[in-house]
Amino acid sequence: MVQIVVAGGSGEVAQEVINALVATKKHDITIFSRKVTEVRDSNRHGVTWRQVNYENKVELVAALQGVDTVLSFIQLLHDPGNKAQKSLIDAAVIAGVKRFAPSEWGSCSGVGMPWWTGKDEVKEYLRKVNENKKVLEYCLFQPGLFLNYLATPHKTSKHLTPLNTFIDIHNRRAIVVEGHDPIMTFTTIQDMAAVVAQAVEFEGEWPVVGGIRGNSLPVSKIIEIAEQVRGGPFEVDTVKFEDLEVGNLTTSWKLEARHHSVTDEEAADMLKGVLVGMLLSSAKGAWNISDEWNQLLPDYRFTDMSQFLGEIWQEKA
Ligand SMILES: NC(=O)c1ccc[n+]([C@@H]2O[C@H](COP(=O)([O-])OP(=O)(O)OC[C@H]3O[C@@H](n4cnc5c(N)ncnc54)[C@H](OP(=O)(O)O)[C@@H]3O)[C@@H](O)[C@H]2O)c1
Repeated sequence: MVQIVVAGGSGEVAQEVINALVATKKHDITIFSRKVTEVRDSNRHGVTWRQVNYENKVELVAALQGVDTVLSFIQLLHDPGNKAQKSLIDAAVIAGVKRFAPSEWGSCSGVGMPWWTGKDEVKEYLRKVNENKKVLEYCLFQPGLFLNYLATPHKTSKHLTPLNTFIDIHNRRAIVVEGHDPIMTFTTIQDMAAVVAQAVEFEGEWPVVGGIRGNSLPVSKIIEIAEQVRGGPFEVDTVKFEDLEVGNLTTSWKLEARHHSVTDEEAADMLKGVLVGMLLSSAKGAWNISDEWNQLLPDYRFTDMSQFLGEIWQEKA
């Protein structure tokens, strides 16, 4: 049994991972939340909720006593300066936590995505924590983009809200960057959760960079698969890299579905920024994920993109 704390465990991605951990019936899981207003999870074995104040380090250290592994899913957009995550890391070191996973769960770099630069700052913070002596084993779990998003608007996981990206299978359209055909990694959230469930039991040392490579393909190939499953050609807009660099978006369409953490007021700017950022970051290689966990868990079979999309889009209008 592993004593696990899931910080930000009330969130969408965390809930998928918690379900995979609960399914093993092996672990003791405590969800850290800033606002526990009711007793939740009476029906999920081994899960308890604990209200924490990330600004109170003494309280955090007490809450982390006896904990083996901390998984953080704290929403970076709402944690300016990464105050909560840094405090959690400090407390984990003091409490003698063995393993820590920061709120990564995506690309291998924040390049081109201003909303995720906090992730690179936390990476650097963790590197410094171990600079003189290794005090905390940690892993940057990186599954790429969730493959579930290519099924939008259809919901393909219990908790993840469908969002669209620059390959919009529903509307049979895509956007490409002129002169670039980057490799992108797509992994289902269920596969990521299953890998994390195996990782918490993994007996060797966690790799610092923990790439999870469900499917890694050039964008042109992904569009080809999308066209196959939809039975016809897509409308493809081409944009220039230099335009994206100055925030100039010349496409005939924009993103529509927004993440639940973005307010109505922020939505228009954010949706444009996310589309520009996704195109730029992919062209710069931020979604070409390494395969450390594939190597460490060679028996794990990942969901294949063609099969997943074929099943989702079969007979859909
Ligand atoms: N690879 C992908 O395609 C992909 C897609 C989506 C998300 N992600 C990543 O997955 C991770 C989780 O994302 P999510 O969408 O599940 O997040 P989310 O639901 O928006 O938020 C997760 C939790 O963060 C906590 N939180 C928010 N602000 C906080 C603060 N200032 N201090 C401490 N805790 C705070 C909240 O918990 P309480 O209010 O209960 O404290 C919230 O439930 C992020 O790293 C995100 O970038 C990756």
